[in-house]
Amino acid sequence: MTAPLPAPFSLRSYQTQDLPALVALFQASVSQLTTQHYDAAQRQAWAPATADMPAWQARLASLELLIAEDDQAIAGFIGFSLDGHIDLLFTAPGHACQGVAATLYAAAEQRLRAAGARELFTEASLTARPFFARQGFSEEQAQTVTRGAVTLQRFAMRKILEPR
Ligand SMILES: CC(C)(COP(=O)(O)OP(=O)(O)OC[C@H]1O[C@@H](n2cnc3c(N)ncnc32)[C@H](O)[C@@H]1OP(=O)(O)O)[C@@H](O)C(=O)NCCC(=O)NCCS
Repeated sequence: MTAPLPAPFSLRSYQTQDLPALVALFQASVSQLTTQHYDAAQRQAWAPATADMPAWQARLASLELLIAEDDQAIAGFIGFSLDGHIDLLFTAPGHACQGVAATLYAAAEQRLRAAGARELFTEASLTARPFFARQGFSEEQAQTVTRGAVTLQRFAMRKILEPR
């Protein structure tokens, strides 16, 4: 059996008019792709149905962002800062397990290497933990985040960038 060919995604940078689409993708991704690891109350606390758009606008403006899209829609996005922090990585439910996150991550790592980063770090959800392990990240510490009355588990993970 042969592996399916990767779908043709292109990458581009963020424009302010992408804000509603990225927030909607984030909400759909959390609500549908993390059900194995987080219950409904945890998913709702992580991605409330009514998003704080000014807070999102400020957060996205503070990050470097790459967007993956096909000819129809945005398939995923990654947000990072040049100190090596991977802050956001979300794939649209309809595009899960097609290599979108891997493509976005590879481009972000390339950008961060070019900017001089020596190590990358993130706070990975339980859902994203195997993905980041696959990209060469090691677990540093389990963390518990409190959102209102709800707690969520995640893992601080780090990758040392070896010179190429
Ligand atoms: C984690 C996430 C970004 C992965 O996105 P994706 O586009 O489906 O990932 P890819 O198709 O690029 O997968 C690459 C690798 O990740 C791993 N992976 C992806 N989805 C996985 C899953 N559900 N369970 C276990 N491993 C998974 C696999 O090892 C895969 O390797 P393979 O191609 O050899 O099979 C996606 O599931 C997501 O958006 N999750 C919800 C939000 C979230 O947790 N974001 C991270 C916040 S820190």
